[in-house]
Amino acid sequence: MTLIDGKAVSAQIKEEIAAEVAEILKNGGKRPHLAAILVGHDGGSETYVASKIKACEICGFKSTLIRFEADVTEEKLLDAVRQLNADADVDGFIVQLPLPKHISEQKVIETIDYRKDVDGFHPINVGRMAIGLPCYISATPNGILELLKRYNIETSGKKCVVLGRSNIVGKPMAQLMMQKRVPGDATVTVCHSHSKNIKEECLSADIIIAALGQPNFVTADMVKEGAVIIDVGTTRVPDPTKKSGFHLNGDVKFDEVAPKCSFITPVPGGVGPMTIASLLNNTLLAGKKEIYK
Ligand code: GUN
Repeated sequence: MTLIDGKAVSAQIKEEIAAEVAEILKNGGKRPHLAAILVGHDGGSETYVASKIKACEICGFKSTLIRFEADVTEEKLLDAVRQLNADADVDGFIVQLPLPKHISEQKVIETIDYRKDVDGFHPINVGRMAIGLPCYISATPNGILELLKRYNIETSGKKCVVLGRSNIVGKPMAQLMMQKRVPGDATVTVCHSHSKNIKEECLSADIIIAALGQPNFVTADMVKEGAVIIDVGTTRVPDPTKKSGFHLNGDVKFDEVAPKCSFITPVPGGVGPMTIASLLNNTLLAGKKEIYK
């Protein structure tokens, strides 16, 4: 069994990006600039955004954090999005999700200029991704592809089961694994809360990508010998033994599943750090105007 070290791969990618930024600056180019909008004080979102800002520093990017309280009006938030769209210095930006219930996430996403949508959530980027055109690919699925690539994990002709159908992970992940290129070329099945026979589907899978947000959902009796397991789950479970008061729990029952696998990602330290590396890579592409002029 090989443990997929997302933390190490992410650190390596950030080094590669930092080297490229240094080269751009040496040649008189512009420092890439990522902005993030954070609404409210959700613990997970605070942590993710802080990690994104820190990663910008490591890579030599400029970063801007714009904060609003949870009671901000939708219009005020949309205005902030429009301002970032118009700000020529900002190459790309994100609005951290989830947003408070009174704000339409879809409206916010559709207000972002798709050319600055480094999260790859805008329908133009989602659509272009689906038909294999150059675009910003959402960070978590793209980070998983990068792990598969860097660990030389074979995907062509393999049976891949994606657990979960979210717009952020499950749907794009399934699209990418079925695309006509490598990593990809897999036979993909998507399972979700209304699927029947999830256990049988998983048992026949060469690759399982678990993105349900249900701690310990994938157990050893659902996994075939030699399978590749990618765990996207990051549920905060109360844990009095931790200083933070919680630990992160994946969707996979790691201890019993790991011995059966050829490759597996841990939680934390697997997919999570790759999401940030992918976001930075998209921002670098935005800075270089490599996808959209
Ligand atoms: N919330 C959970 N994951 C993400 C992400 O990749 N981007 C944004 N903007 N919000 C998130």
